[in-house]
Amino acid sequence: MPILFNQKTKEFHLYNSEISYILNIMKNNQLGQLYFGKKIKHRDSFEHLFEIVNRSLTAYVFTDDNKFSLEELKQEYPSYGTTDFRYPAFEIHQENGSKITNFEYVSHEIFRGKKKLESLPATYVEEDNEATTLEITLRDSLINTEVALSYTIYENLPVITRHSRFINCGDSNLRLTKAMSLNLDLPDYDYEMIQLSGAWSRERHIKTRKLEQGIQSIYSLRGASSPNHNPFIALKRPNADEHNGDVYGFSLVYSGNFLAQVEVDTHSQTRVSLGINPHGFEWHLNANEEFQTPEAVMVYSSEGLNKMSQTYHTLYRTRLARGYWRDRVRPILINNWEATKFSFNEEKILDIAKSAADVGIELFVLDDGWFGERNDDYRGLGDWYPNTNKLPSGISGLSKKVNDLGLNFGLWIEPEMVNKDSELYRNYPDWIISTPNRSDSHGRNQYVLDFSRHEVVDYIHEMISKVLRESNISYIKWDMNRSITECYSKAFPKEQQGEVMHRYILGVYDLYERLINEFPKILFESCSSGGGRFDPGMLYYAPQAWASDDSDAIERLKIQYGTSMVYPISSIGAHVSEIVNQQVFRNTPIETRANVAYFGAFGYELDLNELTELEKQKVKEQVEFIKQYRELIHKGKFYRLQSPFENNITAWMVVSDDKKEAIVGWYKVLNDVNESFKRIKLKGLNENLNYYIEQKGEYHYGDELMNLGMITSDYAVGDPCNEEILPYMEDEKELYCNGSRDFLSKLFILKATEE
Ligand code: DGJ
Repeated sequence: MPILFNQKTKEFHLYNSEISYILNIMKNNQLGQLYFGKKIKHRDSFEHLFEIVNRSLTAYVFTDDNKFSLEELKQEYPSYGTTDFRYPAFEIHQENGSKITNFEYVSHEIFRGKKKLESLPATYVEEDNEATTLEITLRDSLINTEVALSYTIYENLPVITRHSRFINCGDSNLRLTKAMSLNLDLPDYDYEMIQLSGAWSRERHIKTRKLEQGIQSIYSLRGASSPNHNPFIALKRPNADEHNGDVYGFSLVYSGNFLAQVEVDTHSQTRVSLGINPHGFEWHLNANEEFQTPEAVMVYSSEGLNKMSQTYHTLYRTRLARGYWRDRVRPILINNWEATKFSFNEEKILDIAKSAADVGIELFVLDDGWFGERNDDYRGLGDWYPNTNKLPSGISGLSKKVNDLGLNFGLWIEPEMVNKDSELYRNYPDWIISTPNRSDSHGRNQYVLDFSRHEVVDYIHEMISKVLRESNISYIKWDMNRSITECYSKAFPKEQQGEVMHRYILGVYDLYERLINEFPKILFESCSSGGGRFDPGMLYYAPQAWASDDSDAIERLKIQYGTSMVYPISSIGAHVSEIVNQQVFRNTPIETRANVAYFGAFGYELDLNELTELEKQKVKEQVEFIKQYRELIHKGKFYRLQSPFENNITAWMVVSDDKKEAIVGWYKVLNDVNESFKRIKLKGLNENLNYYIEQKGEYHYGDELMNLGMITSDYAVGDPCNEEILPYMEDEKELYCNGSRDFLSKLFILKATEE
């Protein structure tokens, strides 16, 4: 068993070939943390790892022991107020007004496999031998309440997943005001914290800062995980980089308000906590009730950030994403949003679909505007029946016509929202989240339906499933375009208002679960004004997510590079859109737009009829290319090689499992003159294989490509008048933004040969 219990010293050692995680039952019967990191040998006792000293101005737990203070002890799931003055992992308000607790070890269970989480998304196993779980039950006998801490270690991945469950076994009424999924105390603070932060249209930019004594945190209080901060942080040693050094990743499988916090105390210990944001959160735990926290996923890598990311990619692609589409190649889609916005009719849609079918695209997606009176974003949300003025044969008729063109049909929905100008709102005005006697803030002229109420979810479910039943729909884009404000549910008493944010997201998960069970072959893509809810919780239901409303290829370098820190390439919705780009008004070559979007769930976001014949020919070639390589790109190992946050040139690559094939994406933002020689060190190849690089017409051994690098210098740049680069042929200019040499990119395809 990869989880051992040292009976005498009361220590648990969770390990696999890469990692060790060691915790103990301390003298006060609470849980201590001894080690998390690279695998170390098991021994009968790890007592020497338990560091404790006598310090002045400290409070002690035992009258006869002037050392045992929780203030500096590394703990598993700490509470506040009994000698530890750092931020706790949980807080329980009791009937007498006290928040002091004492959860002591009662029992533990070690078993093969991993249990499912009730009503929450989580990683899973397909066979019990893929992972082993330790469940430790702690009890506070005064309040007759238990906490079950659950740890799962995967057999073949450097991953430990964690969550906690609170069980009120007594008859008093408790209030849980904090219940983090994870607490990890580390012995020093020589780390840099990495976060993925941004805003609408510039999601998941990589930010790094040195840890310092005090608190550093990221969070969401918007009701969704948000584009502002992703529910993920990493701690890396200052000398660690993409390929070397110690890195810890912490990711939360949750789509609502979260907090990721790192506290460094003044004796330089680091406390990481991750979970539901306690601000505004309050859960009533009455007699015999339970509360389950979301799951947190910890990854350790001794080989830098890339290895951490590859671990998340494998786990999230194969053991978080589920269902019919998990392992299938994703259809190449075309979405009409940027092409038409709300202004379309059946004829226009069929025009776009026809031209898409002609170039081999596989799926047409009808975006916002097909339902109710939805002719702009002021009205119609909530009325999930077709607008027959625009679409006389409805969705069922249109979907058949699109099918007849040889394409599958997909549809956009935004089930959590309503416009006040809608039938739904007129019939059920109290179904929105809204605080009595306060005005309702709007976002994009819309309001949030109260998904904490079952009857609301039931109603929306019925409307959406009716559309899905009546038509031939193989894909759904589930959008969500505003944050929650004035959070209050009319269905719950005043005491339970602190539960609404969490109940809301449980309602969202519930609707997803029902729809994927009823329509298992539909591919869901989540979306929230682009990447505003791009999180592991969503991936459990929707294996891909629209990464950003910013579809400009150059902007996407940063967005996709940052997203790849945690999320598999197959999950990153990425489309070629028109120029002038609608977000940054930039012109980029169609080749570069595709070369970026290939490293995602690929599609188009334009009207092909607006392209020139030459561009259409290019699109045809692109579609052929991605059909050939999507399996490799989605399932291969992804390596970040050169960061767009630090360089004019970005590079990444993907390598097949057998290392016989690889594709390198190389992107140069601005052209320069008389530049230095350039090469880029490749990764993950077999050093003994000889690779043919099609685009260079050259053969190189893996060891050379990885140690010396692949030469990428453009021989002509030393001489701007060199006819190799100037000018473009007249007919090429339309492909290269009127002859510009900015925003160029190359793909290098490597194939192992015998030569
Ligand atoms: C926001 C999404 O991110 C866009 O792709 C598009 O679907 C619009 N909403 C439609 O309203």
